[in-house]
Amino acid sequence: MDKNSFYQLLKARRSIRKYKSDPVPREVVERLLEAAMEAPSGKNRQNWKFIVVTGEKRDQYLQYSQKAWEKLKDILKVRLKPSLYDFTERFFYTLGQAPVLIFCYAVKSPEEKDLTSIGSVYMAVENLNLAAFAEGLGCCTMGAPLEMKEDVNQFLGVTDWKEFQSQQLELLCLVTIGYPDHQPPKAPRQTEGRVTWL
Ligand SMILES: Cc1cc2nc3c(=O)[nH]c(=O)nc-3n(C[C@H](O)[C@H](O)[C@H](O)COP(=O)(O)O)c2cc1C
Repeated sequence: MDKNSFYQLLKARRSIRKYKSDPVPREVVERLLEAAMEAPSGKNRQNWKFIVVTGEKRDQYLQYSQKAWEKLKDILKVRLKPSLYDFTERFFYTLGQAPVLIFCYAVKSPEEKDLTSIGSVYMAVENLNLAAFAEGLGCCTMGAPLEMKEDVNQFLGVTDWKEFQSQQLELLCLVTIGYPDHQPPKAPRQTEGRVTWL
């Protein structure tokens, strides 16, 4: 692989929060998930669970996203410029019309530190982000569902799963996916104070 293309991909990727109504073919979503599951994981446990939500169920989820906004809006009011605040509110209300939602869970284990279990799944989430970009899709990873974790677990039906009942299943994030309908500027990166060489 050409290394420049790889670095260009990393630099060009950005979170997308407005999508075209075009559906994403199932085989494309399957490729994204395959890419996600190429990720490394602690002890190679591959301890991820993905729940793909589309169609009517996706529409029903919006009520939870809207509730999450109610919990986050005061913090965001202080952090965001007014125009970005309004845009973000719309995003939470509509999820940018994303046709595909992928909820990402970690299966924790008594044999593994929770941080390792959780980190492994986030490695897969990054693969998912990059694969979406390579496919000409856009996506946005969202921690917002954690504001409504209990409700979301019920809504997705994971409360019936044995891993949930043994308290091993942990919701980490939602990834919204669809064909991009905007070209946001690159969010600036800061490197200062992030790296120490000894
Ligand atoms: C763990 C995690 C949680 C995030 N949660 C949200 C979220 O709830 N809502 C949102 O709009 N963006 C969310 N983001 C996206 C970030 O805001 C975004 O990645 C960051 O601003 C950098 O922009 P970029 O992805 O375009 O480079 C999240 C990203 C990560 C990695």
